[in-house]
Amino acid sequence: MPDAMKEKISKKSFDREKIHAGNIGRNVDHTAVQIEVERLLASMSLQQKIHEIRGWQAAPIDGLFYAGGDEVLNIPSYRMVDGPRGARIGMATAFPVAIARGATFDVELERKVGLAAGLEVAAKNGNVILAPTINLLRHPGWGRAQETYSEDSFHLGAMGVSFVSGAQNHVLTSPKHFALNNIEMTRFEMSANVDERSLHEVYLPHFKRCVVEGAAASVMSAYNKMNGVYCGENFVLLNDILRDDWGFKGFVESDWFLGTRSTAAAINAGMDIEMPVGYRFDDAKITDAIAIGELTEKTITRNAGRALYQKIAFDLANREVPDASVVECIEHIELAQEVAEKSFVLLKNEGVLPLSTTQSIAIIGDLADIPNLGDRGSSMVTSSEVTTPLTGLRAYSDQVAISYYSSDADLCDINKADVAVVVVGLTYKEEGEFIPTQQLESEGSDLARGGDRAHLRLPESQEQLIQEVASKAKKTIVLLEGGSAIEVSSWVNEVDALMMVWYPGREGGHAIARVLFGAVSPSGKLPVSFPRSIRQLMDWDITALDITHDLFHGYRYLDKKEERPEFPFGFGLSYTEFTLEDLQVERVEHRFFLVVSVRNAGDTVAAAVPQLYVSYRNSAVERPVKELKGFGRVELTPGETADMEIELSDEELRYYDPHYGWVLEACTYDFRVGQTSDNLPLESTWSFDGEDWLPEGI
Ligand code: BGC
Repeated sequence: MPDAMKEKISKKSFDREKIHAGNIGRNVDHTAVQIEVERLLASMSLQQKIHEIRGWQAAPIDGLFYAGGDEVLNIPSYRMVDGPRGARIGMATAFPVAIARGATFDVELERKVGLAAGLEVAAKNGNVILAPTINLLRHPGWGRAQETYSEDSFHLGAMGVSFVSGAQNHVLTSPKHFALNNIEMTRFEMSANVDERSLHEVYLPHFKRCVVEGAAASVMSAYNKMNGVYCGENFVLLNDILRDDWGFKGFVESDWFLGTRSTAAAINAGMDIEMPVGYRFDDAKITDAIAIGELTEKTITRNAGRALYQKIAFDLANREVPDASVVECIEHIELAQEVAEKSFVLLKNEGVLPLSTTQSIAIIGDLADIPNLGDRGSSMVTSSEVTTPLTGLRAYSDQVAISYYSSDADLCDINKADVAVVVVGLTYKEEGEFIPTQQLESEGSDLARGGDRAHLRLPESQEQLIQEVASKAKKTIVLLEGGSAIEVSSWVNEVDALMMVWYPGREGGHAIARVLFGAVSPSGKLPVSFPRSIRQLMDWDITALDITHDLFHGYRYLDKKEERPEFPFGFGLSYTEFTLEDLQVERVEHRFFLVVSVRNAGDTVAAAVPQLYVSYRNSAVERPVKELKGFGRVELTPGETADMEIELSDEELRYYDPHYGWVLEACTYDFRVGQTSDNLPLESTWSFDGEDWLPEGI
């Protein structure tokens, strides 16, 4: 930051020192670790090395998946557990799902979630959290949309790296699924076909950031293929990009069961650990492959060395297990609530919110009365207590007159209430990781099973419920639960307010009450565009086995097609008004510092989320109409003003040329700042002539 501007800065968009504090992976003495790895390897037999490169058992042992480890050699095992919304083991704090956390646009908060989830995993004797999920939300119909943060790679990278750095204060992380895993129903066979430019510019930057900046200790490979080759044996991904380009020092573990498809090909390509058990990496298969020359002992030694590396770097042999009392402790419960409050996106409000405690309220819909934490796939978390919207509203104040109606209740009475709050949305039945029917039957559950959504509308009965309520109630507020975009156009004009509350975690009900009654202003922004209709988006076929991936999806696709969505990326209303003024831009050593003055012009404490998008003029290649390249979040009291600094490095302005690599092009760049992607009133234009940068007008 230039000295002249220093005294004006009150908030940095991404404070690296804060975000990365305590991340063990970033503070490793690589030479010392490598010496120790080699010392160990020298004392190990082939058998012992093979043991290091596979899991032990198909089913978890007390909730943990084990890999490697040798008591005689004093080598600890990896003990892995899932974690995109908290620790999937016993009772734990169920945080709002990642897409909700993405909506906070709050990187410091996401670091805290990483810290808390990592601590709970450690307290349960785990040492690897299988998170974050950072696959790009290419289409909102993806069943696992809720597990990831965003349709935008910049935003996804910023949130992902914050989680990684937080969690790596306590455990290893495993950003997943590397790479291009963005459809559920065909995930085991689908080939994501992608050109080099789109791969590097759109589908990988967030992984790169977690690996290079976040020093993620491990990476989980994806089930699907990239350009016809399974990601679990893809030399380009696992070796050329991850190791050679990015300098990754940790280990790659396969996604479970079908993530490893071969023995020699996978090991040679750089699949270091087969999980959850050695089907392909079993003794006989490996020794046979060595015997016929498909594999060498040297390669096994290399992979075993990578598997050992982080055990030493993170000193796993000597780490103490934190006290169990940290699990679902008051700090984590409060954090879950804070995150939920900051994640809700107010999409429409025609003078009805916030509510007052003197109003009588009718709460309608079965979803108001059931815990709805997200899917029941690998990211499922069980909490000892969950506050539903109904319990949260009832607990908020004794004064409020609340009546509850299930979805099939007779609604004739509801016009007596001052307002009706309808809770609708999706559940694990309509979306989520796909759970095969046999597994569900053996677990005794119903046949609901997640998977992708072929369309984006609510179940018909819920649309009818909204319409019925809207026709009878004095005022209608809709709360939408779900993990991604939902089409609302057939009913949104009939309701007075609409708020997206995602899958809001164990404290969701309390958070909903506090936002509805105005104890806290909504401040979430959409990390995924809500189209008017699925027809506005690219083709979406949930049975597809070959899918072309290019530069355009989400808002980039909508912009290119000149389609206006129902609610754009980055959009979200507040109970106050903010003004953004006085954009100043300085250039210092290969980066720009943009400072914008943010003022709370209303009478409510609230948070603003300034967003920076870049557009390109005279580019030699096709570029998106605009791309998010920075954002920040700042809370302000009425009348308060703060300066938000957004840093933009030259690296973010490059495009990827398959021949030359990352190119900083001589052309004109528009830096545009606003509070939602479709309204960017502040602008500064800079031109690059190949050597120097000049602001427009000079
Ligand atoms: C999922 C992974 C998960 C693993 C272990 C797989 O089916 O795709 O995300 O970490 O199971 O539970």
